[in-house]
Amino acid sequence: MSGLSIIGTGHYVPGRPYTNHDLSRVLDTNDEWIRQRTGITQRHFCPEGQGVSDLAVHASQRALEAAGKRPEDIDYILFSTMTPDHVFPGSGSLLAAKLGCSNIPAPDLRTQCAAMLYGFQFADVLLKADAASCILIVGAEAHAGLMPWRDWDILEGTTDRRPTSEDWERATRNRGWAIIFGDGAGAIVVERSKSEGNGVIAVDLQSDGRFASQLCIPVGFRTRPYVSAALLDGDAALIHMDGREVFKHAVTKLPKSILAVCKKAGVTVDQVDWFVAHQANARINEAIASRLGVPLEKMPGNIERFGNTSAATIPILMDEMRRDGRLQPGQIVCVAALGAGFHWGSLLIRT
Ligand code: UT7
Repeated sequence: MSGLSIIGTGHYVPGRPYTNHDLSRVLDTNDEWIRQRTGITQRHFCPEGQGVSDLAVHASQRALEAAGKRPEDIDYILFSTMTPDHVFPGSGSLLAAKLGCSNIPAPDLRTQCAAMLYGFQFADVLLKADAASCILIVGAEAHAGLMPWRDWDILEGTTDRRPTSEDWERATRNRGWAIIFGDGAGAIVVERSKSEGNGVIAVDLQSDGRFASQLCIPVGFRTRPYVSAALLDGDAALIHMDGREVFKHAVTKLPKSILAVCKKAGVTVDQVDWFVAHQANARINEAIASRLGVPLEKMPGNIERFGNTSAATIPILMDEMRRDGRLQPGQIVCVAALGAGFHWGSLLIRT
């Protein structure tokens, strides 16, 4: 039975890049530390007043154009983000309205950096079940509002002011995660492959909520009111991340998952053409490649230019690979990711 075929991709990042040096104006860090520990040199941030549905419109229009499709050809949207325009509704229906896709299903999926594993799995299953014929899979993030500094003019170097010591300390307290995230959107148009045996050929997906507190934004609907000045002052609306623990989970769980998914599909790791892995830290992917004995050239990266764009990372990377000709029909692609939850795993796509 044939599953999904990727027929068009697109991505969009907002505004100008912000360098590591820019960040050092608002918190205690430096370019050398960030590059050595993460591989990141710059990232983009969503402008104030815009949200993920706005970023996603641009990426989706590019993907539709590449696919030779119009908005009205799309009959299903799978939208992934951990930074939606609003607490509710999700951003899928907002994107559908902005694109001009009317009266179609457009749910939001919430698996953070592991988003595309589910985007691809759900799309493949929907196509095989004849529940959709042309699906737009989107990942988009606007982390800018989460950032632990207030003075964007200081970050941008357009003022001589310095942050107050309180602001500097707060941002520095959160520097572990503040330096890794960036904003952007990626979109992938898929339809049912005409070739038998193509599509998602094996899946290994797992979750473990026991570790949820190692990577989360604590504010939620367990308190009354759910948001208050006291909660905000207490950093409950910021990311809480135990970076070292998350790192360890990623470098142990993902190689195991990749071996498991290859075994399920009856292919060897050597037969996989590309390992398209989430970009949270270049050192994580180097460790995974080394544990699997995979040459790094087969595990492409773009973290140096975009940082960690959470749900948007994998579609942005796949768009770059498709446009520069690395991604070709007939290849076996392994998609692998770990995100807050934890949700993690891998899947194999025969393109
Ligand atoms: O998609 C989301 C999933 N998230 C991840 O996958 C994140 C996984 N974790 C990581 O990528 C890394 O743990 C980080 C990049 C977050 C941190 O790197 P690390 O090598 O684990 O650093 P660390 O937290 O162990 O800190 C080492 C030192 C500390 O100083 P001391 O105690 O040795 O004096 C930190 O205070 O580096 C210091 N440090 C920094 N220094 C300059 C931590 N963050 C920074 C910073 N700039 N931004």
